[in-house]
Amino acid sequence: PHQGRLIVVSNRIPKGDVPAGGLVFAIHEALTGAGGIWIGAADPTDQAEDGLTKIGSGDYERFTFSINHEEHRGYYLGYANSVLWPLFHHRPDLLEFHQGDFDAYVAVNRRVARAIAEIAEPDDLIWVQDYHFLMVAHELRSLGVTNRIGLFLHIPFPNPNDVMALPQVAMMPAWMAAHDVVGLQTRRDVISMVEAMRHDTKTQVLNDGTWIREGRVFSILNFPIGIDAESFAEAARAAPEVELQLAPKAPLLLGVDRLDYSKGLVHRFEAFDAYLDMREQGSPRPTFIQIAPGSREDVEAYRDIREKLERTAGSINGAHADLDWTPIRYIRRHVDREVVAGLLRRADVALVTPLADGMNLVAKEFIAAQDPEDPGVLILSHFAGAAEQMESGALLVNPFDRTSFARAISDAIHMPLEERKERHAILREGVFREDIKWWTDSYLDRLRRAPRSFDSQL
Ligand code: G6P
Repeated sequence: PHQGRLIVVSNRIPKGDVPAGGLVFAIHEALTGAGGIWIGAADPTDQAEDGLTKIGSGDYERFTFSINHEEHRGYYLGYANSVLWPLFHHRPDLLEFHQGDFDAYVAVNRRVARAIAEIAEPDDLIWVQDYHFLMVAHELRSLGVTNRIGLFLHIPFPNPNDVMALPQVAMMPAWMAAHDVVGLQTRRDVISMVEAMRHDTKTQVLNDGTWIREGRVFSILNFPIGIDAESFAEAARAAPEVELQLAPKAPLLLGVDRLDYSKGLVHRFEAFDAYLDMREQGSPRPTFIQIAPGSREDVEAYRDIREKLERTAGSINGAHADLDWTPIRYIRRHVDREVVAGLLRRADVALVTPLADGMNLVAKEFIAAQDPEDPGVLILSHFAGAAEQMESGALLVNPFDRTSFARAISDAIHMPLEERKERHAILREGVFREDIKWWTDSYLDRLRRAPRSFDSQL
């Protein structure tokens, strides 16, 4: 039986400030249950140093590794968020590759690997999170680390064609094979990665579905991430009452996203616009609240999206608003998590319609937050990883098809109570069963049971 500690590394780590995005909450929940060590990036400084710095206190230990300003630009803004992020979200057109950025990515991955190698004891499990650290395991292996190492990729894996646009595509198989378990969100992602691995002549599939490359056996499996449904439902029930000043019976539509081109916000606004056009005169006037705090604003592609979105919201409101009605309320400010939980409980319709998304935990939070006796309707994009688990209860849409998206909005607003309850019950069961604990346990069980390649000398 495994006795070692769990060492998790992710770029972002809570430092007392407000974290955006689902990963940080998920890892927090996972470590609160399992205990262990969490390593993440410190705020950039003038000079980077080796080693780790302990921060905070709590149910698990937290450490940061340091990076300097230039590395932050190259590793985080550059290679991670201007190469890997757009490429893995099917936007090779947004890719901005500079060799220096990749060099910074390598330098940071090496520093992280050295820091882990220094603290890891033989039985510790090492669990690397996300696209910021695709090379860490490979670096650990060259430092002689034989611990079990897992990767979980929170974002989609690109199709074989898009992968070819990655200048480092030839290195990818070696990076992946350095892990014991490569975890992805969906079956679709597994298929994409398996396709990409097939192009590598050194990698072979074994009879039991595992893979082998230069003597290392590893597996590629999907583990859809979940939420702490119980505690989110409780937070939603206990949320502070917010005065929204809605007209009586006015349906409330809600979107909650980081401001990111992958979230399909412009498409969503335009579909809502199309719904307003087709809406029957005299029917209750809907209000659509979109919360979208800014994100990665030093990356150019993110500045463009903000302008475009503001223009779209402005012109839709200009066309439809009245003295006592603003159809779209677009909120760029940060909204506290408890308030968001309360809004997710109140909303009649949640719009979770990304153009590409690893999972999207807002879809699951909405289901956990809703009142089972009078639940709202989830409109979910085919392109969210969550669609694989939630297709039978949600209204699935293609965000690029404005007319049918608008019709789905209409169907959601008018859906009878019985059907809403039925759909919600199906979704609720899944969200509570395949929760964050299920995700952590199933991943770590698999990692613990991974054969240690170096033992068998294959
Ligand atoms: C996504 C990524 C995470 C990331 C989060 C927020 O969920 O998968 O790795 O932490 O977005 O993005 P940021 O760049 O602000 O950390």
